[in-house]
Amino acid sequence: MSMPTDPRRIVADGYDAAADDYARWLVTGVVDTGRPKYLAHFCSRLPEGASVLELGCGGGGPTTAELARRFALTGVDLSSRQITLARERLPTATFVHADMTRFETPPSSVDGVAAFYSLIHLPYGELPAMFARIARWLRPGGVFVASLGARAGGEHVEREWLGGAPMYWSGYSPEDNVRFLEAAGFAVVESGVETNIEDGEATPVFWVIARTPPLHG
Ligand SMILES: C[S@@+](CC[C@H](N)C(=O)[O-])C[C@H]1O[C@@H](n2cnc3c(N)ncnc32)[C@H](O)[C@@H]1O
Repeated sequence: MSMPTDPRRIVADGYDAAADDYARWLVTGVVDTGRPKYLAHFCSRLPEGASVLELGCGGGGPTTAELARRFALTGVDLSSRQITLARERLPTATFVHADMTRFETPPSSVDGVAAFYSLIHLPYGELPAMFARIARWLRPGGVFVASLGARAGGEHVEREWLGGAPMYWSGYSPEDNVRFLEAAGFAVVESGVETNIEDGEATPVFWVIARTPPLHG
């Protein structure tokens, strides 16, 4: 059987197949020190009940549960299976089945945007435009947290990932990630490379907290 070549198709079909394995892998296959640290940074900068958009929210895992507990949360995901799981697990939050690069919400309508391990699946070259969309959605002084690639790797496809389907990733250097954020109007307030252990292998992740400019000064 030939493999699809459209990254969006690979990722959507891939997470439909991998959703259940991915939820297990998060618990058994990865040691991730950056996630709790940057989740805490993000939460501490927003009041309880703030409006938060989570892009590539997945199937309602522990990070999304924490965001839903504190904030008025809308999760967006490309995979229909992930959205079904998220709705089952977290009935008080709102979940939308959509491609984040096409999803729309009014300008300045959200206080915070979170993207944990999802922007790493955008087709290579689409990250700068996605940052510009996120900056537009955030109110002045809004907060953005993301985990991004730390290697200028371009594109990477695995023919058989979790769930047995192919998967697609893209990545840029930390310097390029920061350059794209600043070009979109963000100020980076916290960032760093953290090393995950994924299936026993050291994997660098570039974490960032960035803010849109405040209304005055
Ligand atoms: C590695 S999982 C991360 C899930 C969750 N955020 C977490 O931290 O565990 C990546 C998620 O991003 C979603 N995703 C990838 N590309 C997307 C896109 N263009 N629009 C919306 N969701 C996307 C995938 O379907 C998948 O559920």
